[in-house]
Amino acid sequence: MGCILISYSLTGHVQFLCEKIVSRLGCEWLQLVVKRPYPSKGFAKFYRGGRDATFHWPVRLATPIPDLSAFSTVIIATPVWASTVSPPIGSLLRKVDLSQKKVYLVISCSGGDTQKCRKRMLKLAAGSTYQGCLLTIDPKEDAWDGDTALQAFCQAVQQGNTYE
Ligand SMILES: Cc1cc2nc3c(=O)[nH]c(=O)nc-3n(C[C@H](O)[C@H](O)[C@H](O)COP(=O)(O)O)c2cc1C
Repeated sequence: MGCILISYSLTGHVQFLCEKIVSRLGCEWLQLVVKRPYPSKGFAKFYRGGRDATFHWPVRLATPIPDLSAFSTVIIATPVWASTVSPPIGSLLRKVDLSQKKVYLVISCSGGDTQKCRKRMLKLAAGSTYQGCLLTIDPKEDAWDGDTALQAFCQAVQQGNTYE
């Protein structure tokens, strides 16, 4: 049984990280696209996304809901929005059945709290076996030095181990 990475990225940080994960693991990668894209600049970027995240409003996905029956391991990657999970990933988690699957989380933020986001994701992924979470702060910035953690995370996924 294989491994799939499911991600959403608005401004490229999560995508940057996912490219590295996929090149190490060689796993399947599904990048979510929303029907009505979120603004990626200015005040609107924070207004609409922040509002939808705060109220846990679902968003319509342009990406079809995947059939995960062939995968025993699922990695879910999201940016933090308003201290919680981004609406595209939240909407997907409501629609897929992750029970019996090993689930790893990848969370990117700009320095704020990530615990609420992790808790929300685990609540939505009820029934899955939580294996660990890779936390990063805006990884596409030049100063990012998370390669060691990334390598340890990928090794844990490959070996089916938990990641601390
Ligand atoms: C609508 C919105 C809300 C955000 N809220 C938070 C937040 O509460 N805490 C935080 O640390 N970063 C917050 N951020 C920043 C992103 O989580 C961070 O820059 C992340 O790395 C972006 O990933 P991406 O480039 O893949 O979209 C927010 C960004 C957006 C667009």
